[in-house]
Amino acid sequence: MSAAGDQDGAVDGKTGSLGMLGFPDPGPPLFSSLTEVRERLAAVGYLADDGIAGVVHLADRLAKPVLVEGPAGTGKTELAKSVARVTGSRLIRLQCYEGLDESKALYEWNYKKQLLRIQAQRVDEDGGGDKATTSWRDLEEDIFSEEFLLTRPLLEAIRSPDPVVLLVDEVDRVELETEALLLEVLSEYQVSIPELGTIRAKQIPLVFLTSNNTRELSEALKRRCLYLHLDYPSLERERDIVLARVPGVTEELADQIARIVRSLRTLELKKYPSVSETLDWARTLVVLGVESIDAEQAKATLHVLLKYRSDLERAAKELAVAGEDRA
Ligand SMILES: Nc1ncnc2c1ncn2[C@@H]1O[C@H](COP(=O)(O)OP(=O)(O)O)[C@@H](O)[C@H]1O
Ligand SMILES: [Mg+2]
Repeated sequence: MSAAGDQDGAVDGKTGSLGMLGFPDPGPPLFSSLTEVRERLAAVGYLADDGIAGVVHLADRLAKPVLVEGPAGTGKTELAKSVARVTGSRLIRLQCYEGLDESKALYEWNYKKQLLRIQAQRVDEDGGGDKATTSWRDLEEDIFSEEFLLTRPLLEAIRSPDPVVLLVDEVDRVELETEALLLEVLSEYQVSIPELGTIRAKQIPLVFLTSNNTRELSEALKRRCLYLHLDYPSLERERDIVLARVPGVTEELADQIARIVRSLRTLELKKYPSVSETLDWARTLVVLGVESIDAEQAKATLHVLLKYRSDLERAAKELAVAGEDRA
């Protein structure tokens, strides 16, 4: 087995420096102020309020991961993508699911290729090749080298020489052991591979972990992160999101849509309409050529917004009452 050495960024062995024992370099700040965060995000169509922009700004300054929690479809994933876009960083995404383990999150050895390598060796020897040249030791060193390593998102983010935004999406879906693994990587920004050595990050990636809150995350993980609760946007922000994201929508329609969605969220529903559903609804109405919505049109298209029969019935009733009030 090859001597396990400390390596700096790339698993190279030859060029890896041993010197960097401290924390990786956080690099120059990506943003100079909260306002700049907000403006640059708006330029790519992501409308943040001061709360969101403030946390992103701090995360950049303090080189700390952000845990973004909140209902589905409120812009958690999109926030990380948009930050990557505006900073020109590479987006590396680890999509979490039940059963995700180290081999899919961090790295694994390419067993098939290793086997082929061993078989090729045998063929060489049977064919009268120079038997003495390759000992088991050499072979082992060979098959546990960079060439046989399959890097997964966490390792990929750690060893990237370029700025990275790491998105650990829907972290509440993984088991506790995998959460602990994440925590370890995010605390130390290094990964130990027994056969290869320790790989230290060259720079600290900007990390976003998202959670739909299906279970409580560990205290340790929360301690490590800045916390951002992403709730449904304010009326004005939702209207602006519709205007920014839906081509062809008029201001009046966007305003009406935002108002109706907001009032639906005050009802007791099984599943509240999310921002993505608001956008789907707006697109639907634009396609139907609606410029100003009335109660009938709203009722006829509610199924884009609400996905439970009981919710649809409740909302239809509410819209009818609102319509009568206005009449
Ligand atoms: N603040 C926002 N600005 C612009 N678009 C937004 C915003 N929040 C949500 N969206 C839209 O809503 C959609 C769903 O957001 P997403 O990030 O996938 O939700 P989540 O990850 O919270 O479930 C995105 O595709 C995006 O178009
Ligand atoms: Mg998401």
